[in-house]
Amino acid sequence: MNHPIVKIVQDSGCQSYVVGCPETRRALLVDPKVGRRETIRDVCERFGLTPVAVVDTHTHADHLSDSVAFLNDGLTLYMGARTACRRDLKRVRKDDTVSVGSLELRVAEVPGHTDDSIALIGGGVAIAGDTLLVGGLARADFLGSDPAVLWESVRDVFLALPDETVVLPGHDYRDLPFTTIEAEKAKNPAFRFASGPKYAESVGAVRGAGNTPEVDATLATNLEEAPDLPDSPHAVVACCGSGEGGGMAPREAEESPAALADRREEFCARGAWIDVRDAWEFEAERIPGTTNVPLGELGFHLDALRRDGPVVLSCLGGVRSMTAARILRRLGVLTEPISMSGGFREWKATGLPTE
Ligand SMILES: [Fe+2]
Repeated sequence: MNHPIVKIVQDSGCQSYVVGCPETRRALLVDPKVGRRETIRDVCERFGLTPVAVVDTHTHADHLSDSVAFLNDGLTLYMGARTACRRDLKRVRKDDTVSVGSLELRVAEVPGHTDDSIALIGGGVAIAGDTLLVGGLARADFLGSDPAVLWESVRDVFLALPDETVVLPGHDYRDLPFTTIEAEKAKNPAFRFASGPKYAESVGAVRGAGNTPEVDATLATNLEEAPDLPDSPHAVVACCGSGEGGGMAPREAEESPAALADRREEFCARGAWIDVRDAWEFEAERIPGTTNVPLGELGFHLDALRRDGPVVLSCLGGVRSMTAARILRRLGVLTEPISMSGGFREWKATGLPTE
């Protein structure tokens, strides 16, 4: 089948996803966070997707899950069989299948960050939850965490996948919202260790050290059957993992629409101007000659995107294009990404041509 439709909904380092079947337009909501319900509904509407199921990859310690709101909308909620969550959910185990239209996702149990962690694998993606992150593994110092078990789960489940598999992690704190198995094998420092115990020794996690009163309160709410949840984004109470080196990934080069306009045809002729907005935005109005690959779907087109020399990335305002530039550099796909500052909005305001 074609690759799934993937939309990343980022909030304070927490990543939710809308994963849609391109044939039936049915969609799975992954790890929806309180305060983002309208955004998620809006994404589904814009993409013409009907959400049919929701998954919480594990009991979240750092933010409130909004799964109960979608359960109330009639969606099916999936969680790992080992969860203590009291919601009306379907418990899934290793090798069960979650079907979303014709998209079939295989369940993998990936304990270590929490005992109930699962991943969903299919259609060229691995929905990882808090297990394998970009350049690191999830933290493992909560009650119920075990860093050695986490390392072994990740090795057994993820390192066995094809290199080109796109990994969609539950968190990203560095503006690198997805990765591939190939990149993690090459770059993730966790895989420099020979075994789970050796990895555990290196991180020195003290079990239960992460259970602050705020974390315990968040966990308790996420286990409740019908909690009274706020409507606004709830503060994130903990960071669930760390990537390589910490801090933000470096900024990439930026150029203004006015500076790029004269070279537009030259870039477009070699397929080196990528508009990373969503398809519906691109279809409405675009810069002539540019190619559309939405940010959430770049991972499915890495071979086609590979170029030496300068490549322009553009979006509506210059934020998504910077993210794309960072990811494509990290994955070794582009050597000289240029993010267009101000994006399509500034291109238009400058009076440059559109179609
Ligand atoms: Fe987590």
